[in-house]
Parts: sequence; C-alpha cells; structure tokens
Amino acid sequence: MSGPATPAAVSFPPQLPLSLRDRAAGSVRVPGSKSYSNRALLLAALAGGTTRIHHLLHSDDTAVMIESLRQLGVLIEAEGPQVLRVHGMDGVLRSSAEPIACFVGNSGLTIRTLLPALVLGLADREGTAVRLHGVARMHERPIADLVEGLRAIGAHIECEAAEGFPPLRLHGRPLDPQAELSVRGNVSSQFLTGLLQIAPGLAKLWDLPEIIVRVEGELISRPYIDLTLALLSMFGAQWREPEPGMFWISPAPNSGRSGLISPGDVTVEGDASSASYFLAAGALGGGPLAVLGVGSQTLQGDVAFAQALSAMGARVSMHADSIVVQAPASGRLQAIDWPCGDIPDAAMTLVPLALYAEGTTHLRGIGSWRVKETDRIAAMATEARKLGAVVAEGPDWLSITPPAALQSAEIATYDDHRVAMSFALCAFAHPGDADRGRLLTILEPGCVAKTYPEFFNDFARVAAQAVPVIAIDGPSASGKGTVAARVAEALGLHYLDSGALYRCLGLLCLEAGLDPNTAVQPEQRQRILDLAARHAPQFVGTNILLQGRPVGEAIRTEAVGQMASCLAALPEVRAALLRQQHDFARSPGLVADGRDMSTVVFPGAVLKVFLTATAEARAERRYKQLIEKGFSATLSLLQQDLEDRDRRDRERPVAPLLFDAEAGMVMLDTTRLSISEAVEFVLQRARPLL
Ligand code: C5P
Repeated sequence: MSGPATPAAVSFPPQLPLSLRDRAAGSVRVPGSKSYSNRALLLAALAGGTTRIHHLLHSDDTAVMIESLRQLGVLIEAEGPQVLRVHGMDGVLRSSAEPIACFVGNSGLTIRTLLPALVLGLADREGTAVRLHGVARMHERPIADLVEGLRAIGAHIECEAAEGFPPLRLHGRPLDPQAELSVRGNVSSQFLTGLLQIAPGLAKLWDLPEIIVRVEGELISRPYIDLTLALLSMFGAQWREPEPGMFWISPAPNSGRSGLISPGDVTVEGDASSASYFLAAGALGGGPLAVLGVGSQTLQGDVAFAQALSAMGARVSMHADSIVVQAPASGRLQAIDWPCGDIPDAAMTLVPLALYAEGTTHLRGIGSWRVKETDRIAAMATEARKLGAVVAEGPDWLSITPPAALQSAEIATYDDHRVAMSFALCAFAHPGDADRGRLLTILEPGCVAKTYPEFFNDFARVAAQAVPVIAIDGPSASGKGTVAARVAEALGLHYLDSGALYRCLGLLCLEAGLDPNTAVQPEQRQRILDLAARHAPQFVGTNILLQGRPVGEAIRTEAVGQMASCLAALPEVRAALLRQQHDFARSPGLVADGRDMSTVVFPGAVLKVFLTATAEARAERRYKQLIEKGFSATLSLLQQDLEDRDRRDRERPVAPLLFDAEAGMVMLDTTRLSISEAVEFVLQRARPLL
C-alpha cells in the first residue's frame, strides 16, 4: 500500500468572506509542525531502519517532501490517517539511468534539505541525475549559499536558469573528503539544517569520527537549528557546539552508511507557528482558548511568540503540552517594540495584533521575510494599509500604527499561507467597529493548504465554541425545524436550519445535471466540492438567497431533499459545510437543527435534544404541509421517501443520525405532542442553561 499520505482535498472558494466575530474560546488542537514533519521525514528516509511517524502534518509542503522521497526510491506507507511508516534507505538512494525529477512546490525546507541529502545519497551513483524544481516563486528564492557550500565538497550542481536559484540539476559523483564544511547563515537557517542532517553520513563516508559544520557570519532563526539538532539526536547522532556557530557532529554509534539510526517511533509536535493564530484569537476574542499540542516542552522556537503576546498584555498560561490565552485584563492590547529574529514565521501574527493595540508596534529583525513565499514585509504592509493602518517599512523592520476603526478590505494573499491566516484575525470585532457592517474577504484562501488545510474550519470552530448552542437533531419531518425556529425566537437567539444548507447544495447539483440515483463518480465529486465551497447561501429573515436568488420554496421539493441526503453521505461535503455552520454561532447564541448538530457540529452544545415521531405521523405532517402549499402529493410515496432518507441518514458512516444518551442528548417523541408542547419542553430545559 503506498496509500493516502497526501491530505484529503479541502476545497476553497476563490474568495472567502469572513463573518465578524467577537468571541473565541474552548480549545483547538493544531496540526503537526511543518518543520518537525519534514525534518522527521527526511531523516527517517536517510536513516537505517523503519520509522513510524505519528501525527504527521498533512499539507502541501509535506506532500511534496513525501512525493520527492518516493521518486528517490523511499518506501513510505500509510498506517492509518495519523501514522506513516518510512523505510529508511540508510544513505543509499536509487540509481537511475533516466534523470529523476522531484517537484518541491514552494517548500523552501524541502529543497534546501533534499539537495544535501541527494549529494550524500548520490556520492557513489555516478550517472544518476536528479532535477529539483518548484513553482515559479521557488525559482526566485535564493539557494546560492547552500549550492556553494556543497560544491566546496565536490558536489556537481547545475543551476538551470539563473546562478544561485532553482531549478537545480544534481549529478551523482564522489565527494572530496573534508573535516570541515561551512555555510553562510544570514539568508536562511535551512541551509545549515541541510548540511547538519547529512553530516553524520559524510563522517561515515569519509571514515571520520566527526565532521565540523561551521556557520560563516550571522546565523538567523537559531531556534530552527535547535530543532534540527534535537531531531538528529533522536536519530542517534551526537553533537556539540564548542563555540557558537560551530557544530561538531558524529554519527550514531554502530550506524550504517547514513550515520543515523531510526528511533522506531517519532511523534510530531503541534505546529508552533500555526498555534500563533489561535493564541492571538484567544487574546482578541476573550478566551480562555486552549491551544493543544504545543507548550513549554515544545522544541520549536516559534513558541516564544507567547512572550510577545504577554508583552502586549494578553494573559498567557503555559503548560507542558498546551497554552491557554485570555484577553488582557485591561481589555485592550498594548503596542510592543519586538525583536523577531528568532520567531520569523510567528512574528507575522503580530501584524494583525498591532491593528488592535494601543500605540505603534515596531517589529525588528525580519529581513528574512523578504525571501519567503513572497516579500512578506511588502505584503503585510500593503494589506495592513488596506485596513486603514499607517505602516512604515525598512529593509528588515515594520512599524504599524492602527487606525481608529478598521476598514472593509479584500485581503490579497500572494500565495502565502501566513498572509491569509494572519489577516483572518481581523475578523474579530475591533474597538473602533461602530456596527457589524465591516466586510473582510480573504482572496485565494486555498494557500493555507501549504501548512494548515483545515485552518478556516478551526478558526470558525473556536468562535462557535464561545457562544451557547442549543442543538436539535432528528429525522425528516419530525418537527425539529419549526420547534428550533420558535425556540430561537423565544430566547432571542440566532437560528440555523442546517438541512437548508444541504438542500441548497442539492438544488445546485440537480441544476448542474447530477442524478441522486446514480453513485457519485470521482470526477463529479470535485464539481460537487467546488459547488459546496462556493455556494454560501444567505439567510435573510425567513428567506434564503442562493447566489442572490430566493430559493426558500425551491429547496423544499422531495427531489431536492433526496439529492441533499445523497450529498450528505459524502464526507468531503460534510467537511465543506462545517465552517458555514459554525459561522452561524454568534453572540448571544444559536439554536441549530439537523442530523449531527449534537454529535459533530456543536458537540459542546449546552442542550442537545433528539426530536422524533413515528414514520406515519411524520409522513402525514409532510403531506399536509405540501397540500397546504398547493403541491400535489401521495401519502404512501411520501412515507416511502421519508423512510429511504432516514435509512440513508442513519446508516451512512459519517455523521449518522443517532440518539446518543451518553453524549447528553435528551429524547422527545412528538408523535402525540403539539408544536407548542414541544417548544415548551425545549424552553424549560434551555432557559436555566443560558
Ligand atoms: O432537514 P432536511 O430534511 O431539510 O435535510 C435535508 C437532508 O440533508 C437530510 O435528509 C439529510 O440527509 C441532510 N442533512 C444532514 N445533516 C444535517 C442536516 C441535513 O445530513 N445536519
């Protein structure tokens, strides 16, 4: 099985309007660290033995690393969604008469660590050539310092287009033994990481007890080097740093050609850079928000972002494997003047925070931003200005003075995941927001897939967790819609008819010619997902607008209901609609009806009701409704359709309709109850909980 090491596709619309929110609370588990995942993958591929990597990040950047390693002959198998088994090659890569092509996307870490690994792996593979290429931006990102460092030990590397930039072509050839390697460290610390990771193998190759890797000049982003060293230790290599920037590396005792021995299992930490968005969300949205998977034990330097957040006034408590954040006791963040050299990625998150702070924030030591996915200094300055901020920029600094009130803006993202995730934070209510009319749209939000495909879903969820939700689930025509709407009205809460979201998508799919009675073909799946990502119906009073047209009536037909229930069985469709459902949970609270409100969408709901009635009673109710509206209907057919739909909803493997007393659901059989009696049942239980 060479199976799903790549992420399940998350579909993104070309533009993502974010609903404004004022609260964030609860907990979020951030995905595995990109830096950790890609280091672990490469070391596991190089080392002797088999490594099981747990909690690996599924993202574009890890996918290109995995695919490149497979091209090079490494066997990588999925052992379930969260575990990957990598069969180490012990420093020997496959030989090939044909050039091997590795596509590295826009992953700097992949190209900068794969290149040295190839130099080592092809040292006795004369005649084998490997081409490393990426997206257009990758071909503008410098790699000269690393190429020079490797040429100094005899590597044959050609830069195909411009000297010092990818695409690169590497030819296998023997290397010149040297006890000391050197590399410059002021453009990217990834060059040093690349050399450190092959140092144990070079020592073996040249039969030396140790290799010295020396940094010439300044070393930026030092914490990333500490992470590299920690992972090298896990794979048995030994190191010391007798003076700063000079690393003595020896192979693992009794190791093979790579100088590395698999530790057996490696568990990837939560990503500290990804955590920064939620730490910030806790500060902007009140909290307490617990970010799980990152804490004081974390090896990643970006965890120091929490110190910057405390300096801004947020209340931060650090635990071994989690960090909990609350808004400042004073209610307002304060500007800071902060050296960001050690937290280059997480420091981007300080830009949106600066827009909410009192005073002018200065971010220093961010020169490396210029050569990342985009020129991040220019990008962050341009987008912050769109929101009304006054921003000054220098070669390696930014200063940000917030506006009195944020302006509506369409945020461009430059194919840079961190630009998208940072500015999403501006969906939080700003002290200057007079009303809720401000609009924030993230353009091309799909770039978050580079490191955090589920970002927008998690971001919607932490907002949803912060408000009380009453969940009402049940089969078709059990009366849950009517009851939920009346309860919402009586309590002054928002109302979500989640079935209407599935029905709107069902209508679009029927109009697009899809047939609910035939199994969904793979090529149709993508079309459905595209429709799901874009359809975003608006609920205006009692009407529903789908791409601007009223569809309140059109979505109630049986054909649409059948289509909706077929679509609802597809896990990707359910995932795509999750964020939209979470967006409905706004202050002061929400009443939501559907099939999986209590179990999947709002598992933290304060009250969970399962509303049901016999199939006969439900068919009769639906029959009366249809006749009253002037539709023709046959009772027996209606009952058959209801039963079919119920069966599909109950038997589907994802988010089935179920009554789960252990999850705290209470059952209400409405066969013999009036609507007012059912409403009263829910209200009596809900009122004390709000
Ligand atoms: O509730 P309603 O009949 O409008 O829902 C239409 C269909 O959408 C249901 O039969 C069900 O398959 C699906 N649905 C769902 N989960 C929800 C709401 C609706 O699967 N939360």
